[in-house]
Amino acid sequence: MDGTSPHDGRALSGLRFSAATAAFQVEGARTADGRGRTIWDDFVDTPGNVSDGSTAEPGPDSYHRVDEDIALLSGLGVDRYRFSISWTRVIPDIGASQSINETGLDYYDRLVDVLLAADITPEPTLYHWDLPVALEAVGGWLNRDTAHHFADYASVVAGRLGDRVRHWYTINEPASTSLQGYALGELAPGRALLFDALPTVHHQLLAHGLAAPMLREHGALQAAPTLNHSLILPATETETDLAAAGLLDAIMNRLFTDPLLVGEYPDLSAFGVQMPFADGDMELIAAPNEVYGFNYYNPITVRSADGELPFEMVPTPGAATTGFGPMWPIRPDTMRDFLIDLHERYGAQLPPIIISENGAAFPEPETTTTEIVDTERIDYLSSHLSAVLEAKAAGVRIDGYTVWSLLDNFEWAEGWPQRFGLVHVDMNTGTRTPKASYRWYRDLIAAANA
Ligand code: BGC
Repeated sequence: MDGTSPHDGRALSGLRFSAATAAFQVEGARTADGRGRTIWDDFVDTPGNVSDGSTAEPGPDSYHRVDEDIALLSGLGVDRYRFSISWTRVIPDIGASQSINETGLDYYDRLVDVLLAADITPEPTLYHWDLPVALEAVGGWLNRDTAHHFADYASVVAGRLGDRVRHWYTINEPASTSLQGYALGELAPGRALLFDALPTVHHQLLAHGLAAPMLREHGALQAAPTLNHSLILPATETETDLAAAGLLDAIMNRLFTDPLLVGEYPDLSAFGVQMPFADGDMELIAAPNEVYGFNYYNPITVRSADGELPFEMVPTPGAATTGFGPMWPIRPDTMRDFLIDLHERYGAQLPPIIISENGAAFPEPETTTTEIVDTERIDYLSSHLSAVLEAKAAGVRIDGYTVWSLLDNFEWAEGWPQRFGLVHVDMNTGTRTPKASYRWYRDLIAAANA
């Protein structure tokens, strides 16, 4: 497909369109109005953790620019906005007072009202990686209590916003938190526990399982986690590489799909780990959700290795790459294949899918006075949308598509240089300049709604 021409409007017409951001990545204002500290505050304040030394401030400063951001969303014509709520704006000090910070809640309250006034459905995520430091101090997601604290927090937020918010995401990308945050130490909290990190998977899924019914009690029509998946490709067809790919597929994908969709974990004996589940946990985790939040960026190619881990990730041969280089290959066909496989593997257990994130970073200037012509991003998004349509044509029920991201934002350990936005942001002044991809997405949504 030609990346610059819109898709056939009729093929797109069943999809709801959205754009996403996350609190720590766009809000800035880390000490405003009583916000408490998170593991990401500790991470960015420790020299050497973030490639460019940036600290998520001032950045897009969305905390102070709600009207501007919502005008951008209105201009796009999206049905929904996926943003996230900062736990420590709501409950700044989990350990001591536990008291609720009404000023922090006011910010989200107003955001919701402005969205609704613009006819955009708010779709908040309750946890996008910004765990309160007080919880990390007692083990973070290794500690089962964190799941209960999360449910309490969910209940507080739903108590305030549940009269207007009906569509929620609970936990974002538990695989990233467990694998990059606790197993490898690349993301906050920066722990390198390897397979000993696996209990963090169970506690995050349990957090979802405990929170979702509370959200529904407050009128939620959707209360689902968002899962990041990658198709795992063996580097060669040798038995050892195939086995390595099977192991990584179990850790990255089936460790999440199996418990959520069939109520059991895959066989983890190869890792020497037992999941710390108690009676009733699996029923909570596998309780049906209205949708399946699906984040997809790239496949991972893997070969067997003899190091601390029995596999090693390698570049995907022949694939173009994003601004992250060889480890972020562009292979939209793998998104289609993954979706079809998910549908075939889980059948009726799989609820309708919402693509809750998809997007790419490419090198772009820090400042601009003119529209950036980000043809590579348009091609990336266009080809992945085609993959979504192919999966739909093959029988996979997909109801929504979400671009990551509305804005250039703080790309975690990579800092500012990796820009994912439809809108360019000058990280010193906060100035927003829509890119060509913004116009492209706007025209595509208009064609879908025509
Ligand atoms: C995360 C986002 C992140 C994006 C690009 C997803 O894994 O949910 O927060 O910015 O990928 O890395």
